[in-house]
Amino acid sequence: MKAAVTTQAGNPEVIQIQEVALPQVKKGWVLIKIEAFGLNRSELFTRRGDSPGVIFPRIQGIECVGIVVEDPSQTFSKGQQVAAMMGGMGRFFDGAYAEYTLAPLEIIFPFESKLPWEVLGAIPEMFQTVSGSLNQALEIQKGEKLLIRGGTSSIGLLACQLAKAKGLTVIATTRNLKKQQALIDNGADQVILDEGIVSESVKKIYPEGVEKVLELIGTKTLKDSLKCIAPKGIVCMTGILGNEWTMESFTPMGDIPSLGRLTVYMGDSKNLSKELLQEFIDEVEKGFVKLRIDRIFQLDEVASAHQYMEDNQATGKIIVKT
Ligand SMILES: NC(=O)c1ccc[n+]([C@@H]2O[C@H](COP(=O)([O-])OP(=O)(O)OC[C@H]3O[C@@H](n4cnc5c(N)ncnc54)[C@H](OP(=O)(O)O)[C@@H]3O)[C@@H](O)[C@H]2O)c1
Repeated sequence: MKAAVTTQAGNPEVIQIQEVALPQVKKGWVLIKIEAFGLNRSELFTRRGDSPGVIFPRIQGIECVGIVVEDPSQTFSKGQQVAAMMGGMGRFFDGAYAEYTLAPLEIIFPFESKLPWEVLGAIPEMFQTVSGSLNQALEIQKGEKLLIRGGTSSIGLLACQLAKAKGLTVIATTRNLKKQQALIDNGADQVILDEGIVSESVKKIYPEGVEKVLELIGTKTLKDSLKCIAPKGIVCMTGILGNEWTMESFTPMGDIPSLGRLTVYMGDSKNLSKELLQEFIDEVEKGFVKLRIDRIFQLDEVASAHQYMEDNQATGKIIVKT
Protein backbone atom coordinates (compact mmCIF):
# COMPACT_ATOMS: atom_id res chain seq x y z
CA MET A 1 0.00 0.00 0.00
CA LYS A 2 0.96 3.63 -0.33
CA ALA A 3 1.82 5.50 2.89
CA ALA A 4 3.20 8.87 3.93
CA VAL A 5 5.94 7.77 6.31
CA THR A 6 7.61 10.11 8.80
CA THR A 7 11.13 8.83 8.33
CA GLN A 8 12.73 10.76 11.20
CA ALA A 9 12.03 13.78 13.42
CA GLY A 10 12.24 17.06 11.53
CA ASN A 11 10.63 19.49 9.10
CA PRO A 12 7.73 18.46 6.82
CA GLU A 13 10.18 17.02 4.23
CA VAL A 14 10.83 14.07 6.55
CA ILE A 15 7.38 12.80 5.52
CA GLN A 16 7.97 10.68 2.44
CA ILE A 17 5.67 8.69 0.21
CA GLN A 18 6.62 5.02 0.26
CA GLU A 19 5.25 1.62 -0.79
CA VAL A 20 4.95 -0.41 2.42
CA ALA A 21 3.50 -3.80 3.31
CA LEU A 22 -0.22 -4.01 4.04
CA PRO A 23 -0.67 -4.42 7.85
CA GLN A 24 -1.14 -8.05 8.95
CA VAL A 25 -4.57 -8.63 10.49
CA LYS A 26 -4.47 -9.89 14.08
CA LYS A 27 -6.93 -10.73 16.87
CA GLY A 28 -8.57 -7.69 18.46
CA TRP A 29 -7.58 -5.41 15.58
CA VAL A 30 -9.49 -4.33 12.48
CA LEU A 31 -8.13 -3.65 9.00
CA ILE A 32 -9.60 -0.41 7.64
CA LYS A 33 -9.41 1.00 4.11
CA ILE A 34 -8.87 4.69 4.78
CA GLU A 35 -10.95 7.15 2.76
CA ALA A 36 -10.00 10.42 4.48
CA PHE A 37 -8.40 11.85 7.60
CA GLY A 38 -8.11 15.20 9.31
CA LEU A 39 -4.76 16.75 10.15
CA ASN A 40 -4.12 17.65 13.79
CA ARG A 41 -1.72 20.06 15.47
CA SER A 42 -0.43 17.31 17.74
CA GLU A 43 0.86 15.60 14.58
CA LEU A 44 3.20 18.55 14.02
CA PHE A 45 4.68 18.01 17.48
CA THR A 46 5.04 14.28 16.83
CA ARG A 47 6.75 14.93 13.48
CA ARG A 48 9.20 17.33 15.13
CA GLY A 49 10.11 14.62 17.63
CA ASP A 50 8.31 16.21 20.58
CA SER A 51 5.96 13.31 21.40
CA PRO A 52 7.65 11.19 24.08
CA GLY A 53 7.95 7.51 23.19
CA VAL A 54 7.38 7.84 19.44
CA ILE A 55 9.97 5.93 17.40
CA PHE A 56 10.63 6.67 13.71
CA PRO A 57 9.99 5.64 11.01
CA ARG A 58 6.29 5.90 11.83
CA ILE A 59 3.10 6.29 9.79
CA GLN A 60 1.48 9.17 11.66
CA GLY A 61 -2.18 10.20 11.80
CA ILE A 62 -4.25 10.00 14.98
CA GLU A 63 -7.66 9.66 13.26
CA CYS A 64 -9.30 8.43 10.09
CA VAL A 65 -12.57 7.44 8.49
CA GLY A 66 -12.99 4.54 6.12
CA ILE A 67 -14.50 1.09 5.66
CA VAL A 68 -13.82 -2.23 7.33
CA VAL A 69 -11.88 -4.67 5.17
CA GLU A 70 -11.38 -7.45 7.73
CA ASP A 71 -12.32 -7.93 11.39
CA PRO A 72 -11.36 -11.32 12.86
CA SER A 73 -13.65 -10.71 15.88
CA GLN A 74 -16.59 -10.22 13.49
CA THR A 75 -17.73 -7.23 15.55
CA PHE A 76 -17.92 -5.25 12.31
CA SER A 77 -18.93 -6.58 8.93
CA LYS A 78 -16.93 -5.96 5.78
CA GLY A 79 -17.87 -2.61 4.25
CA GLN A 80 -19.04 -1.04 7.55
CA GLN A 81 -18.26 2.69 7.71
CA VAL A 82 -16.01 3.43 10.68
CA ALA A 83 -13.98 6.14 12.34
CA ALA A 84 -10.84 5.38 14.37
CA MET A 85 -9.08 7.81 16.65
CA MET A 86 -6.46 8.23 19.38
CA GLY A 87 -5.44 5.36 21.68
CA GLY A 88 -1.84 5.58 20.42
CA MET A 89 -2.78 5.56 16.73
CA GLY A 90 -0.11 7.26 14.62
CA ARG A 91 2.17 7.43 17.64
CA PHE A 92 2.77 4.00 19.13
CA PHE A 93 1.39 2.05 16.17
CA ASP A 94 1.05 3.07 12.52
CA GLY A 95 -1.84 5.40 11.86
CA ALA A 96 -3.84 7.21 9.23
CA TYR A 97 -1.37 8.59 6.67
CA ALA A 98 -1.85 5.55 4.43
CA GLU A 99 -4.29 3.68 2.24
CA TYR A 100 -4.97 1.13 5.00
CA THR A 101 -4.52 0.98 8.75
CA LEU A 102 -4.86 -1.67 11.44
CA ALA A 103 -6.61 -0.31 14.53
CA PRO A 104 -7.61 -1.91 17.85
CA LEU A 105 -11.33 -2.57 18.35
CA GLU A 106 -11.62 -0.19 21.31
CA ILE A 107 -10.85 2.93 19.22
CA ILE A 108 -13.27 2.10 16.40
CA PHE A 109 -16.63 3.83 16.02
CA PRO A 110 -19.12 2.48 13.46
CA PHE A 111 -21.47 4.92 11.76
CA GLU A 112 -23.74 5.28 8.77
CA SER A 113 -23.78 8.35 6.59
CA LYS A 114 -24.13 9.55 3.03
CA LEU A 115 -21.86 12.55 3.66
CA PRO A 116 -18.80 12.84 1.42
CA TRP A 117 -15.68 11.26 2.91
CA GLU A 118 -13.85 14.58 3.12
CA VAL A 119 -16.60 15.91 5.41
CA LEU A 120 -16.66 12.75 7.50
CA GLY A 121 -12.87 12.94 7.77
CA ALA A 122 -13.16 16.28 9.55
CA ILE A 123 -15.36 14.92 12.31
CA PRO A 124 -13.93 12.32 14.74
CA GLU A 125 -11.14 14.05 16.64
CA MET A 126 -12.60 17.53 16.25
CA PHE A 127 -16.01 16.50 17.58
CA GLN A 128 -14.57 14.37 20.40
CA THR A 129 -12.43 17.32 21.55
CA VAL A 130 -15.14 19.96 21.32
CA SER A 131 -17.85 17.83 22.87
CA GLY A 132 -15.57 16.72 25.72
CA SER A 133 -14.30 20.24 26.41
CA LEU A 134 -17.70 21.94 26.36
CA ASN A 135 -19.88 19.30 27.97
CA GLN A 136 -17.59 17.32 30.24
CA ALA A 137 -14.95 19.88 31.26
CA LEU A 138 -16.78 23.22 31.06
CA GLU A 139 -20.31 21.82 31.62
CA ILE A 140 -21.77 24.63 29.50
CA GLN A 141 -25.34 25.70 30.18
CA LYS A 142 -27.90 27.68 28.22
CA GLY A 143 -27.70 31.44 28.90
CA GLU A 144 -23.99 31.45 29.80
CA LYS A 145 -21.28 33.47 28.10
CA LEU A 146 -18.39 31.52 26.58
CA LEU A 147 -15.08 33.08 25.57
CA ILE A 148 -13.24 31.05 22.93
CA ARG A 149 -9.56 31.92 22.91
CA GLY A 150 -8.25 30.84 19.49
CA GLY A 151 -11.65 31.23 17.84
CA THR A 152 -10.48 30.70 14.25
CA SER A 153 -9.02 27.25 14.92
CA SER A 154 -11.10 24.34 13.69
CA ILE A 155 -11.77 23.37 17.33
CA GLY A 156 -12.78 26.97 18.11
CA LEU A 157 -15.12 27.22 15.12
CA LEU A 158 -16.99 24.03 15.98
CA ALA A 159 -17.09 24.94 19.68
CA CYS A 160 -18.80 28.20 18.73
CA GLN A 161 -21.49 26.45 16.69
CA LEU A 162 -22.22 23.85 19.37
CA ALA A 163 -22.32 26.48 22.12
CA LYS A 164 -24.65 28.69 20.07
CA ALA A 165 -26.92 25.70 19.41
CA LYS A 166 -27.13 25.23 23.20
CA GLY A 167 -28.13 28.87 23.73
CA LEU A 168 -24.88 30.47 24.91
CA THR A 169 -23.43 33.86 24.00
CA VAL A 170 -20.05 33.39 22.32
CA ILE A 171 -17.10 35.78 22.25
CA ALA A 172 -14.36 34.57 19.90
CA THR A 173 -10.79 35.85 19.65
CA THR A 174 -8.31 36.10 16.78
CA ARG A 175 -4.96 37.77 16.27
CA ASN A 176 -6.04 38.78 12.80
CA LEU A 177 -9.15 40.94 12.41
CA LYS A 178 -9.34 40.01 8.72
CA LYS A 179 -10.91 36.80 10.06
CA GLN A 180 -13.58 38.72 12.01
CA GLN A 181 -16.32 38.21 9.41
CA ALA A 182 -15.60 34.47 9.22
CA LEU A 183 -16.11 34.30 12.99
CA ILE A 184 -19.37 36.27 12.84
CA ASP A 185 -20.58 34.11 9.94
CA ASN A 186 -19.80 31.09 12.10
CA GLY A 187 -22.13 32.41 14.82
CA ALA A 188 -19.91 34.42 17.20
CA ASP A 189 -21.76 37.26 18.94
CA GLN A 190 -18.59 39.29 19.50
CA VAL A 191 -15.06 39.15 18.14
CA ILE A 192 -12.08 40.42 20.12
CA LEU A 193 -8.58 41.05 18.80
CA ASP A 194 -6.12 38.96 20.80
CA GLU A 195 -2.70 40.52 21.20
CA GLY A 196 -2.01 38.61 24.40
CA ILE A 197 -4.42 40.44 26.72
CA VAL A 198 -8.18 40.29 26.18
CA SER A 199 -9.43 40.51 29.78
CA GLU A 200 -9.77 44.30 29.58
CA SER A 201 -11.90 44.11 26.41
CA VAL A 202 -13.99 41.28 27.87
CA LYS A 203 -14.62 43.20 31.11
CA LYS A 204 -15.64 46.28 29.10
CA ILE A 205 -18.43 44.25 27.48
CA TYR A 206 -19.21 42.06 30.52
CA PRO A 207 -18.01 43.78 33.72
CA GLU A 208 -18.90 40.67 35.77
CA GLY A 209 -16.86 38.45 33.46
CA VAL A 210 -17.89 35.35 31.51
CA GLU A 211 -18.97 32.03 32.99
CA LYS A 212 -16.78 29.85 30.76
CA VAL A 213 -13.53 30.14 28.80
CA LEU A 214 -12.25 27.61 26.26
CA GLU A 215 -8.50 28.26 26.21
CA LEU A 216 -6.93 27.03 22.98
CA ILE A 217 -3.79 29.21 22.94
CA GLY A 218 -2.50 27.64 26.15
CA THR A 219 -0.04 28.71 28.81
CA LYS A 220 0.80 31.98 27.02
CA THR A 221 -2.65 33.43 27.64
CA LEU A 222 -3.95 31.30 30.50
CA LYS A 223 -3.41 33.84 33.28
CA ASP A 224 -5.24 36.48 31.27
CA SER A 225 -8.07 34.03 30.54
CA LEU A 226 -8.45 33.45 34.29
CA LYS A 227 -9.00 37.19 34.65
CA CYS A 228 -11.99 36.95 32.30
CA ILE A 229 -14.15 34.66 34.44
CA ALA A 230 -17.07 35.60 36.63
CA PRO A 231 -17.19 34.19 40.21
CA LYS A 232 -17.29 30.34 40.01
CA GLY A 233 -16.43 30.57 36.30
CA ILE A 234 -14.38 27.83 34.64
CA VAL A 235 -11.38 28.01 32.31
CA CYS A 236 -10.63 24.83 30.38
CA MET A 237 -7.28 24.61 28.65
CA THR A 238 -7.69 22.29 25.69
CA GLY A 239 -5.18 23.71 23.21
CA ILE A 240 -1.63 24.89 23.03
CA LEU A 241 -1.61 26.93 19.83
CA GLY A 242 0.90 29.30 21.43
CA ASN A 243 3.45 26.45 21.38
CA GLU A 244 4.45 26.86 25.04
CA TRP A 245 3.87 23.84 27.25
CA THR A 246 5.19 25.22 30.53
CA MET A 247 4.58 28.47 32.40
CA GLU A 248 7.48 30.32 33.92
CA SER A 249 5.58 31.12 37.08
CA PHE A 250 2.13 30.33 38.35
CA THR A 251 0.72 31.44 41.69
CA PRO A 252 -2.53 29.57 42.29
CA MET A 253 -3.69 31.97 45.05
CA GLY A 254 -3.32 34.99 42.85
CA ASP A 255 -3.59 33.77 39.28
CA ILE A 256 -6.83 31.84 39.89
CA PRO A 257 -9.52 34.23 41.14
CA SER A 258 -11.23 33.23 44.36
CA LEU A 259 -13.82 30.50 43.64
CA GLY A 260 -12.66 30.34 40.01
CA ARG A 261 -11.92 26.93 38.48
CA LEU A 262 -9.20 25.76 36.16
CA THR A 263 -9.31 22.47 34.29
CA VAL A 264 -7.80 20.82 31.22
CA TYR A 265 -9.19 18.51 28.56
CA MET A 266 -6.97 15.79 27.15
CA GLY A 267 -9.10 13.95 24.65
CA ASP A 268 -9.45 10.24 24.39
CA SER A 269 -11.74 8.06 22.31
CA LYS A 270 -13.13 6.77 25.66
CA ASN A 271 -14.71 10.20 26.20
CA LEU A 272 -16.98 9.73 23.20
CA SER A 273 -19.84 7.27 22.74
CA LYS A 274 -20.74 5.64 19.43
CA GLU A 275 -24.28 7.03 19.76
CA LEU A 276 -23.06 10.60 20.29
CA LEU A 277 -20.81 10.43 17.23
CA GLN A 278 -23.64 9.09 15.05
CA GLU A 279 -25.98 11.79 16.39
CA PHE A 280 -23.47 14.46 15.47
CA ILE A 281 -22.89 13.03 11.98
CA ASP A 282 -26.66 13.07 11.45
CA GLU A 283 -26.79 16.74 12.50
CA VAL A 284 -24.08 17.59 9.98
CA GLU A 285 -25.96 15.62 7.31
CA LYS A 286 -29.17 17.56 8.07
CA GLY A 287 -27.25 20.85 7.79
CA PHE A 288 -27.70 21.85 11.45
CA VAL A 289 -23.91 22.08 11.87
CA LYS A 290 -21.70 23.51 9.13
CA LEU A 291 -18.20 22.12 9.28
CA ARG A 292 -15.58 24.48 8.02
CA ILE A 293 -13.16 22.59 5.81
CA ASP A 294 -10.33 24.81 4.68
CA ARG A 295 -8.53 22.63 2.15
CA ILE A 296 -8.38 19.06 0.91
CA PHE A 297 -5.01 17.48 0.11
CA GLN A 298 -4.18 14.10 -1.44
CA LEU A 299 -2.12 11.41 0.30
CA ASP A 300 0.92 12.33 -1.85
CA GLU A 301 0.73 15.85 -0.40
CA VAL A 302 0.85 15.18 3.34
CA ALA A 303 4.20 16.98 3.69
CA SER A 304 2.73 20.09 2.01
CA ALA A 305 -0.34 19.81 4.23
CA HIS A 306 1.92 19.81 7.30
CA GLN A 307 3.69 22.92 6.01
CA TYR A 308 0.32 24.58 5.33
CA MET A 309 -0.80 23.93 8.91
CA GLU A 310 2.52 25.08 10.33
CA ASP A 311 2.21 28.34 8.35
CA ASN A 312 -1.25 28.93 9.92
CA GLN A 313 -2.84 29.38 6.53
CA ALA A 314 -6.02 27.50 7.36
CA THR A 315 -9.27 28.74 8.85
CA GLY A 316 -10.92 25.41 9.43
CA LYS A 317 -10.00 21.76 9.14
CA ILE A 318 -7.32 20.46 6.80
CA ILE A 319 -8.31 17.14 5.25
CA VAL A 320 -6.39 14.51 3.34
CA LYS A 321 -8.25 12.17 0.98
CA THR A 322 -6.69 8.90 0.07
N1 LIG B 1 -6.84 18.45 24.23
C1 LIG B 1 -7.20 17.75 23.18
O1 LIG B 1 -7.69 16.65 23.31
C2 LIG B 1 -7.02 18.32 21.81
C3 LIG B 1 -7.49 17.66 20.68
C4 LIG B 1 -7.36 18.27 19.43
C5 LIG B 1 -6.74 19.51 19.34
N2 LIG B 1 -6.24 20.09 20.46
C6 LIG B 1 -5.57 21.39 20.40
O2 LIG B 1 -6.50 22.41 20.12
C7 LIG B 1 -5.84 23.50 19.47
C8 LIG B 1 -6.60 23.86 18.22
O3 LIG B 1 -6.41 22.83 17.26
P1 LIG B 1 -6.91 23.02 15.77
O4 LIG B 1 -6.50 21.81 15.02
O5 LIG B 1 -8.33 23.40 15.80
O6 LIG B 1 -6.01 24.26 15.32
P2 LIG B 1 -5.96 25.02 13.93
O7 LIG B 1 -7.25 24.91 13.21
O8 LIG B 1 -4.77 24.56 13.19
O9 LIG B 1 -5.74 26.52 14.45
C9 LIG B 1 -5.29 27.51 13.59
C10 LIG B 1 -5.41 28.87 14.25
O10 LIG B 1 -4.63 28.94 15.44
C11 LIG B 1 -4.25 30.28 15.69
N3 LIG B 1 -2.83 30.28 16.08
C12 LIG B 1 -1.83 29.63 15.46
N4 LIG B 1 -0.65 29.87 16.10
C13 LIG B 1 -0.93 30.67 17.12
C14 LIG B 1 -0.14 31.29 18.13
N5 LIG B 1 1.18 31.10 18.20
N6 LIG B 1 -0.76 32.07 19.03
C15 LIG B 1 -2.07 32.28 18.97
N7 LIG B 1 -2.87 31.72 18.01
C16 LIG B 1 -2.30 30.94 17.12
C17 LIG B 1 -4.44 31.04 14.40
O11 LIG B 1 -5.53 31.91 14.62
P3 LIG B 1 -5.47 33.49 14.35
O12 LIG B 1 -4.46 33.71 13.27
O13 LIG B 1 -6.86 33.80 13.91
O14 LIG B 1 -5.15 34.13 15.63
C18 LIG B 1 -4.82 29.96 13.40
O15 LIG B 1 -5.80 30.39 12.48
C19 LIG B 1 -4.42 23.01 19.21
O16 LIG B 1 -3.55 23.51 20.19
C20 LIG B 1 -4.54 21.51 19.31
O17 LIG B 1 -3.31 20.90 19.64
C21 LIG B 1 -6.38 19.54 21.68
